[in-house]
Amino acid sequence: MSQAPSSHTDPRPSRSDVVRYDLGEVTLSVEVRGDGPALLFLHGFPLDRTIFRHQVATLAGWRRIAPDLRGMGASDAPEGGYSMAAYADDMARLLDRLGVQRAVVAGLSLGGYVVFELLRRHRSRVAGLVLCDTKAAADTPEGRQGRDDMIALAGRAGAAAVAERMLPKLLGRSTHGAQPLLVGEVRAMIQRTPVAGIVGALRAMKERPDSTPLLADIDVPTLVISGDEDELIPAAAARELAGAVPGATLTLIRGAGHVPTLEEPTAVSRVVAEFLEAVRP
Ligand code: MLT
Repeated sequence: MSQAPSSHTDPRPSRSDVVRYDLGEVTLSVEVRGDGPALLFLHGFPLDRTIFRHQVATLAGWRRIAPDLRGMGASDAPEGGYSMAAYADDMARLLDRLGVQRAVVAGLSLGGYVVFELLRRHRSRVAGLVLCDTKAAADTPEGRQGRDDMIALAGRAGAAAVAERMLPKLLGRSTHGAQPLLVGEVRAMIQRTPVAGIVGALRAMKERPDSTPLLADIDVPTLVISGDEDELIPAAAARELAGAVPGATLTLIRGAGHVPTLEEPTAVSRVVAEFLEAVRP
C-alpha cells in the first residue's frame, strides 16, 4: 500500500541509492529506491532529479526511479545529440536496463514534454501519468526567440547568468518570500548545470512538436498538478491540459510556483500518493 507522506521533511538520498547507468550513447546518474510497480520521475529545465527528492523518499510501495536527464545533474553532458526523441529513448533504455516493462511516469515541465515523446515513441511503457507544471503546445514564435536569447546568454555568460534570468519566475512569490534557502539551492542547482546541457535542452524544447493532438487519445490514468503561482506555465494551462485528457484530474498546489515538488513537497507527495493508490496495478 502507498504510504501517505506525513511530515515536511527534507530527505536527501544516501550515495548508495544513486547509480550511474551506461546506456550506450550516454551514462546517466539515476536514483532508484524501493520495490513495487515502477514510478519514473522526469525533472524540468535546467534542474536535476533532486527536485523530486521528497516524493522519491516518501512514496513507499513503489519502485521510484529518478534519473538526471542527459546534460543535467550528474549525468553525461555531450556537446550535441539533444532532442525530445533522445531524452525519451534514454528513458526507454533505462527502463530496459532496470527490467521495467511499464511505469507510471511523472514529468515536470520539460519532463512533461519528454513524457509526450515517450507516448509517441514508446507508448506501451507508460502505465499512468503525472503531468506537473507542463503543457502540450509547442513554442510560440516569441517562445522560440526566447530560446535563442537564452542560448546566447548561456554561451556568453554561463549557467550563473541563466540562473539569474530564470529564478524570478521559476519559483513562486511565496517561495521567494518565505524560503530563501530553497531559492539558494535552486540557484546552485542551475549554476552546476553544464552549458552544453542547457543549450541542448533549449534547442530540444524549441524544436519540440505540438503534442496537443495526442491528448484525446491518452488512455492511462492521468493526474495534472500545477503550482497556483506558476508564472512560466500558468494554472490556466494546467486546466486546459486536464480538460483535454480523458478522465484526468487536476490539483492546484497553493503557494507554489513552477517547481511545487520542492516548494510544497508534502502537499505534492500527498496528492501523488492518493493518485497512485487509485491506479496501483
Ligand atoms: C522547465 O521547467 O522545464 C522549463 O521551464 C520548460 C520550458 O522552458 O518550456
